[in-house]
Amino acid sequence: MSKLPNVTTSIFTVMSKMAAEYNAINLSQGFPNFPLDERLTDIIARLAKENVHQYTPMAGFPPLMRQIAKLVQSSYNRTIVPETEILVTAGATQGIFTSILALVKTGDEVIILDPSYDSYESPVLLCNAKPIRVALNDDYTPNWETIKKACSSKTKMIIINNPHNPTGKILNEDDFLQLEKLLLKHPDIIVLSDEVYEYITFEEKHISAHTKDFLLNRCIMVSSFGKSFHITGWKIGYIVAPEHLMKEIKKVHQFLVFSVNSISQAAISEYLNVVDVNLLGKFYQEKRDYFQKLLQNSRFELKPCEGTYFQVASYANISKDDDITFCKKLITDHGVAAIPISTFYSDHKDQKLIRFCFAKDDFTLESAAKKLCDI
Ligand SMILES: Cc1ncc(COP(=O)(O)O)c(C=O)c1O
Repeated sequence: MSKLPNVTTSIFTVMSKMAAEYNAINLSQGFPNFPLDERLTDIIARLAKENVHQYTPMAGFPPLMRQIAKLVQSSYNRTIVPETEILVTAGATQGIFTSILALVKTGDEVIILDPSYDSYESPVLLCNAKPIRVALNDDYTPNWETIKKACSSKTKMIIINNPHNPTGKILNEDDFLQLEKLLLKHPDIIVLSDEVYEYITFEEKHISAHTKDFLLNRCIMVSSFGKSFHITGWKIGYIVAPEHLMKEIKKVHQFLVFSVNSISQAAISEYLNVVDVNLLGKFYQEKRDYFQKLLQNSRFELKPCEGTYFQVASYANISKDDDITFCKKLITDHGVAAIPISTFYSDHKDQKLIRFCFAKDDFTLESAAKKLCDI
């Protein structure tokens, strides 16, 4: 019998495959299509001939771990100990999976907000634990009342994703106050904070779990170099967690991965000396604004986007099809691929909403927008 009977091929794979088959412009899966920073390609080309090709220590290449500590210090004014509080992972995906596998036990409950990215539920199920899906409000803010009601003595973990995929929503100070109140009542609950888009926020500044004292001893912070440096295919990220949690997480990591690929660790540790992560928000804000301007005269209604590189759009004025059918037709009939938002909900409810990824070069955005404006 399947351990994950309800899991099928992910919608990202389905849509990207269809986009390739029909030669459609792919605004579905979340990856950039512009060239890398030449400083990074130069570093990796040079390193290819150096001695950086063998196993690194299990938790990470020490110079990279020191650089991550510096990055967290400069971004969030938090001091972390590289040896005990950092783990370099094969992307955020592995950081999330490993943390859940290490910390969640049979019968535990894990709160997952709805809609949410698809990497949270399956690891919970593989632990014989129960995902408890709690709906966000209609404006995609967390509903702290319903989250509070969903918490019990069985709740082991709450997963938050900030900035949020697919909705582009970010958490504000009041959300953290509510979370603090909740955690005061439930001293054993830990938080997994997926912040892979931490450097991609726009008008409002990102508030990281790193900056909240009440979370430091009970939170796993998940980051992705793939998202921050336009290198999603390198599959490299890291987690930060207090030593008592990290000890358990490392026990699983050493058998799941042992150590993450060495050349990318070495390259990123050098690149962190020259790259300025604070420029990323402005870079993507310009893309968001450009994409929104290009779609201004279309029949799509664009939702607010405070962070991430995703734009949610309603097609309610265009079609009565459900969102999966609409996305398939968007590829076959109009040559643009997007992601149906219903796939981020546990009950797959259709709200005539789709997600576009605007992490694309201007030509791609212009060509896609032209097609979308013709609909
Ligand atoms: C919210 C969220 N978390 C995690 C990931 C996975 O990141 P990585 O590619 O570093 O595994 C993604 C990728 O799209 C994401 O959107």
